[in-house]
Amino acid sequence: MSLLRPIHHTFAPHVNAGYVLRTLALLFQPWKWKEGPQREALRCALAQKFDADVFLFASGREALAALFKAVKDPSHAEVIVQAYTCVVVPNAIQAAGKTPVYADIERESLNLSVEDVERRLTPRTLAVICQHTFGIPADTHKLRALCDRYGLLLIEDCAHVIPDDTGPQTIGKDGDFILLSFGRDKAISGITGGAILSRRPDVSVRLKAEEGAARSLSLLRIKRFLLYPLVYAVARPLYGIGLGKPLLVLARTIGALVPILTKEEKRGHMSPALHRLPNACAALALVELSRLKEINDHRRRLTALYLSELLKSQISNSAIPKSIHPALPLQKFPLFVHGASAIRHTLKKHNIHLNDGWTGCVVCPAGTSLDEVSYTRGLDPEAEQACEQILSLPTHPTMTEAQAQTLMQALSETLTEGC
Ligand SMILES: Cc1ncc(COP(=O)(O)O)c(C=O)c1O
Repeated sequence: MSLLRPIHHTFAPHVNAGYVLRTLALLFQPWKWKEGPQREALRCALAQKFDADVFLFASGREALAALFKAVKDPSHAEVIVQAYTCVVVPNAIQAAGKTPVYADIERESLNLSVEDVERRLTPRTLAVICQHTFGIPADTHKLRALCDRYGLLLIEDCAHVIPDDTGPQTIGKDGDFILLSFGRDKAISGITGGAILSRRPDVSVRLKAEEGAARSLSLLRIKRFLLYPLVYAVARPLYGIGLGKPLLVLARTIGALVPILTKEEKRGHMSPALHRLPNACAALALVELSRLKEINDHRRRLTALYLSELLKSQISNSAIPKSIHPALPLQKFPLFVHGASAIRHTLKKHNIHLNDGWTGCVVCPAGTSLDEVSYTRGLDPEAEQACEQILSLPTHPTMTEAQAQTLMQALSETLTEGC
C-alpha cells in the first residue's frame, strides 16, 4: 500500500485551502506585513480569554526569553524544566542568563513529576515551567501549591495546546505566566509567532518595555514565512510520486523557507535579540484562534478514534499512556511501542511520515547538543526510555478521519508482520 496523499506531522499541518488563500491575500499586501490592527486584535482576544496581560513576539522562544529578561532577580537563576522538551526552551532560559534544571517526567503523562520538581529545588530556584506535553494536561494544581509553598513562579507552556471552553478545564488557569506559540505545527498557527501572558503586574511593566524595544523582522524574512504555506501546498501532494521532497529541498536551498530551528539553536545557542510579532502572522493566528473550538474538536475526534481503534485491535507490543482519554484535544497522540524507529522507517515507504522531531531525544530534536543545554545523560532514565519508544500519531487540522483509519490499518499490519 502506498498512499498518494502523505500522512504526516510536519508538512504544513494547518495549511488547508482557506489558509493558502489568506496567505496569498497577505502576500499581495506587504504594507500589512509588519504593522496593522490584527496584532492588537490578537492581543485583545488573548487578554480576554486568559484574563492576563499579553505580550507578543516573533516566536514562543523569544516570548520566553523576554519573560526571563523581564524577571530581574539575579539571586534566583535556576529554572526547572522537564526532560523531554524542545531545545528552544532551555535555549531561551540560557539566552536570558538563567540555568535550566531538568526534572523527571512521569511516563504515563509525559509531564513533570511534581515529586521530582520538589527534589530539584535549591535556594536559587526561580521558576517552574510546566509543559502540557502534546496537550496532555499537567497537574497544575499540585504545581501551583508547590510554587506557592516555596515562593516560585509557575509558567505554563501551552505551545502544544490552547484550551477552549469544552469540559472541565485546568490548562492555563494556575500559571503566573502562560507561554503560547503560533508556530507551524502548534495548537494554532500563524506560521511563526508567540506570546507570553502575564498575571504579575510588576513583571508586566517590564515585559511591556521588552516588547516595545523589540525590532521588526525584515520584509524579506516575513515574505519567506508567508511562502511556507504556498510551497507546502504544492509540495505535499507531490510526495506520493517522489517530487515533494526534492521541491522542498530546492525551496530550502534557495532560501525561500525559514527553518524551524537553526544549526546554532541545535547547538544550544539562541540570539538574545527579540522581534515583534509580524502583523501578517498575527492575522493568520487570529483566524485560527477564532476557529479554536473547531480545531480542538477535530483533535478530540482523532484522539478518540485512535484510542478506540487501539483498544479494539489490542495491538500487541504497544501501550497507551494512561493519562490519555478521548476528551483531550491532543496535538499528537503518543503511543509506546518497541522498535518505534524501525516502524517509522517501514511506514515511510508507504508515504506515512511519523517523524515529528520528538523521537529518540530528551531535549529535542535528535542531534541537539545535550552538554550545551545542561542535560547530563542518565539524569532522567524514564524520559530517555520513553522517547525511544514513542510513536506519535497526527491529530492536526488537515489530517482526516479517513487518513487516521488508514494509518491504524497500516500500523496494525506493520506490527503484525514485525519490522
Ligand atoms: C514545548 C515547547 N515550548 C515552546 C516552544 C517554542 O515555540 P516556538 O517554535 O514558537 O519558538 C516549542 C517549540 O517547538 C515547544 O515545543
